[in-house]
Amino acid sequence: MDHLLEWRKEFPILEKTIYLVSHSLGAMPRRTADALQEFAQTWASRGVRAWEEGWWEMPVSVGDLVGSIIGAGRGEVVMHQNVSICQSLVASCFNWHSSRNKLITDGLNFPSNDYIYYELERQGARICQVPSPDGITVPLERLLDAIDEQTQLVSV
Ligand SMILES: Cc1ncc(COP(=O)(O)O)c(C=O)c1O
Repeated sequence: MDHLLEWRKEFPILEKTIYLVSHSLGAMPRRTADALQEFAQTWASRGVRAWEEGWWEMPVSVGDLVGSIIGAGRGEVVMHQNVSICQSLVASCFNWHSSRNKLITDGLNFPSNDYIYYELERQGARICQVPSPDGITVPLERLLDAIDEQTQLVSV
């Protein structure tokens, strides 16, 4: 038996249903209720001191846990509130007023991802959306054809 199946009981909703949504709101782990209770208790009992007693470091300490699962080194993964904020942070690293201002996105990107990118047009970015011919895939050749010397970022 696959040892991963042992983990199913950690996710209560799996007792009642097949749950395939991991990108939006994943199946809640059983232990989350206790963790939320602990979080509230820390807030209630430590107040503002909670920041320097672990909360400030938590995006990095949790990132290290995730990193150990995905094969990243310590300090290479950091947690943020949502995808849009991560995208904005990455996109803010580039000078979109330069001649290298092309941002390639694929036609299957989640809509809110593209909202962030199209807003960058006001900073000089040129958005190139590579369409999906079938609504399921984006051919690699089309993406590669779109990438040129003026490309700054490719988001798939
Ligand atoms: C695949 C995918 N990408 C991006 C997002 C947007 O994420 P956020 O609201 O964290 O910016 C979602 C939200 O569910 C998503 O499912």
